[in-house]
Amino acid sequence: MAFYALAKTNELTEGFKRSIKLPSIAVLIFVHENELYIIEDRCPHMDIPLVTGTLEASGDEGAIRCRAHGIAFNLATGKAEGMWADTLNCLNAFVPVYRDYTVGIDIDDADEDRE
Ligand code: FES
Repeated sequence: MAFYALAKTNELTEGFKRSIKLPSIAVLIFVHENELYIIEDRCPHMDIPLVTGTLEASGDEGAIRCRAHGIAFNLATGKAEGMWADTLNCLNAFVPVYRDYTVGIDIDDADEDRE
């Protein structure tokens, strides 16, 4: 496992959003409706970066809508919404890891080798 720091904890205020390229993956970290999310910055539909997507309310949970074809992904479940729900992979989400006033992710070697 390798730890990658993505942000300082004092940056994590509503509206914070940052895309970070790690050696083998791009990660999107953001705060939406007072919740911290860390997801792969890649739409499960056709691999477009989600950093340019729109964060929106979706019932009790938020969603991110990809700008390319307008598919929304539920932030709580990672699943595509609507008619795409059963046909697309879920968002690839990460568990936040807090270390010394930073937040980041642990990625195992298998993830680091991914193309
Ligand atoms: S690439 Fe994201 S909706 Fe098509």
